[in-house]
Amino acid sequence: MKKLNIAIVGLGNIGSYLYKYLIKNKKILAKKNNCIPIIKFISAKSRNRKRDFKITDKIWLNNYLDAAKSKEIDLIVELIGGAEGPAKKLVFDALKNKKHVVTANKALIAKYGDVLSKIAEKNKVNLEFEASVCGGVPIVRSLKESLIANKIIKVFGIFNGTSNYILSSMDNQNKNFNEVLNNAQKYGYAESNPSADLNGEDVAAKLKILSSLCFNSFINHKIHVEGIKDIDKEDIDNANKLGYKIKLLGFSEIINKKIYQRVHPTLIKKSSYIASIDGVLNAVIIDGKPVGRSIIQGEGAGPSATTSALISDISSILRGNIKFPFSISNKERKKINFSEIRERYFSAYLRFEVKDIQGVLSNITKTFANNNVSIKRIIQNPNKNKGSSSIIIITHSSKDKSLNKIIKQVGNKYFIIKKPKLIRIDDN
Ligand SMILES: NC(=O)c1ccc[n+]([C@@H]2O[C@H](COP(=O)([O-])OP(=O)(O)OC[C@H]3O[C@@H](n4cnc5c(N)ncnc54)[C@H](OP(=O)(O)O)[C@@H]3O)[C@@H](O)[C@H]2O)c1
Repeated sequence: MKKLNIAIVGLGNIGSYLYKYLIKNKKILAKKNNCIPIIKFISAKSRNRKRDFKITDKIWLNNYLDAAKSKEIDLIVELIGGAEGPAKKLVFDALKNKKHVVTANKALIAKYGDVLSKIAEKNKVNLEFEASVCGGVPIVRSLKESLIANKIIKVFGIFNGTSNYILSSMDNQNKNFNEVLNNAQKYGYAESNPSADLNGEDVAAKLKILSSLCFNSFINHKIHVEGIKDIDKEDIDNANKLGYKIKLLGFSEIINKKIYQRVHPTLIKKSSYIASIDGVLNAVIIDGKPVGRSIIQGEGAGPSATTSALISDISSILRGNIKFPFSISNKERKKINFSEIRERYFSAYLRFEVKDIQGVLSNITKTFANNNVSIKRIIQNPNKNKGSSSIIIITHSSKDKSLNKIIKQVGNKYFIIKKPKLIRIDDN
């Protein structure tokens, strides 16, 4: 039977689990793929770090970059992380030296995926990154292979488990943002520095990768990104009363030959499928022709789910399945027009915290009329003890630019107590 020599670089949460999995399942993987996966070298930052497996001199590489140079290595699994520094150097070197690469690094692929893909194609080696998008959810391979027949029109979903856990716990456990974040960190659902999860950047990186796979385009950095930091318990309760849930969603869609990429908290109907995805789960929804709507749901992170995706990539290489990293040749990938969401239409939830004084409501509604935004529903919740009032307005479909103008104009009024809020509604 053929053999494939592998180097794993990065032995943290993911790398150490993958290493142990490959040792334990070598025989069955060889049978399934008709090729034996051999771990030739492993490397990480520090040899002295305590790990739950033994490391021999023979397998340890002192300089991780030697993996990219070694004639003995066919495939490098990069599990260091980060768009720059050692991960970048390793993956560039590996592909230039005609080694296959498997990575879980969304930051690297979202930033350098196009140039890396060109090197891989030129050198006829694989660059696989299933694990970089939604952990164990098999969306990348589904787009490249199972859904190949389709013209994709829209991809959207929940791509970040931490923010989904926070929003659903605020809702189900009646807790505020900080309480839930503290618990998420305590139980290991959120990293000690959770900023990329909470500010939407993690979802944005995954969405850029998905967009280019769905639309056969190069990676495009025109993307609107908002996180969940400003969502409070009152928004969640208001949404509930109106028949909605709030989720952090990523969307990429073609409308009139233009692509809109956006990440933001979204009000979605309680009866919708995506509203039922709670906790750390991820879900990706694809609208395509002729398949219709497809949904893949599952564990979006963690060592076991991520290893499932890495093994899928490694198996593809074991079987000798040399593919274009982004599904089609770089020569065929397109520069599609990506648009700002300012021009897109949304219905929206706007919330204004105001002094409870005369004339406020008419002042606000006048601003809506001046910006050609029509109102579908108004709810006013006075707080007599504080002399304030919360005004919630649901709009009809309106230009995003106009909705933002209202937020700015009303935000400057004398009666405003807190920065107004805008949360877009998705009725699909
Ligand atoms: N964690 C998840 O749930 C998850 C899910 C999907 C994708 N991913 C992606 O998987 C990748 C790895 O994540 P992780 O959670 O396993 O990270 P991690 O626990 O922080 O592990 C990082 C590893 O990289 C090694 N490393 C750091 N600097 C290095 C250097 N200069 N040279 C060589 N090795 C170096 C570290 O070495 P030491 O062990 O010696 O410190 C460590 O083993 C990231 O790209 C991440 O985005 C993670």
